[in-house]
Amino acid sequence: MNYLDISQVTMEFPTPTGPFKALDKVDLKIAKGEFVSLIGHSGCGKSTVLNVVAGLYEATGGGVILKGKEVTKPGPDRAVVFQNHSLFPWLSVYDNVRLAVDSTCHDKNTQQRHEWTLHNLDLVHMSHAQHKYPDEISGGIKQRVGIARALAMEPDVLLMDEPFGALDALTRAHMQDSLMDIQAKLNNTVIMITHDVDEAVLLSDRIVMMSNGPAATIGEILQVDLDRPRDRLALADDPNYNRYRASVLKFLHERHTKPDIANIKKTEKNRPKNAETTSEAA
Ligand SMILES: Nc1ncnc2c1ncn2[C@@H]1O[C@H](COP(=O)(O)OP(=O)(O)OP(=O)(O)O)[C@@H](O)[C@H]1O
Ligand SMILES: [Mg+2]
Repeated sequence: MNYLDISQVTMEFPTPTGPFKALDKVDLKIAKGEFVSLIGHSGCGKSTVLNVVAGLYEATGGGVILKGKEVTKPGPDRAVVFQNHSLFPWLSVYDNVRLAVDSTCHDKNTQQRHEWTLHNLDLVHMSHAQHKYPDEISGGIKQRVGIARALAMEPDVLLMDEPFGALDALTRAHMQDSLMDIQAKLNNTVIMITHDVDEAVLLSDRIVMMSNGPAATIGEILQVDLDRPRDRLALADDPNYNRYRASVLKFLHERHTKPDIANIKKTEKNRPKNAETTSEAA
């Protein structure tokens, strides 16, 4: 049995001009403890895949099975780090993380919850800002709090949507290394969306490259066989690392501004003939 089974997931969004097929039969089996990156051009449907796995979107076709159980709604077994670092603005940094701890760590007493909250803030080097509120901190710092909140839940599956996108290069490298350490310790299964090819190769066991939308699907999957723990400096001169990197870049380059014509035709064919009339009537 697969640990996480994304099976033939199709997603059509209703739009004023008729249904828009964002995803077409996305099929991906993920093992426990595997680190998978999703990469692809902007708008191809990466966040949509993540939202379906998170249980925030209901796929219009196919579905997701986690540990033998169908995903129908969000749950504490799947923590999400959102693309737009969604913190509660009325809660301090500490309370944003503490809320996640209180809602998932039922086996810990008050003191242990306090310590666990501080521990996770410390992991992302945020202890000093624990009393600040989201509108008092920068985008990159908010993102770090979002990561601390997700890690504090010790989820089976960590879903990360461009988690390091807003960080400066040094902090980003530090966070990537911490994530590798944490994942090695906890053996979480991770799906991470990234636009950064080096990040994808450094962190992943597999890189899933998505075709351009509409009706996006999985284009290619690259298995990254590099020993762990991985050291970014040593890998810079590793011919295998550079070969993986080149092959992801090639995939992205070939698809740059080149929509998948076959998929557009398919989508047009599926669009109801009276779509325009319907929108006018609405
Ligand atoms: N709620 C929605 N209603 C209608 N269309 C949507 C909705 N959500 C996403 N889409 C469309 O589905 C497609 C995929 O969107 P998605 O956000 O998953 O892309 P993405 O790969 O995450 O892009 P980015 O890299 O820019 O974050 C886009 O064309 C988007 O406009
Ligand atoms: Mg996105």
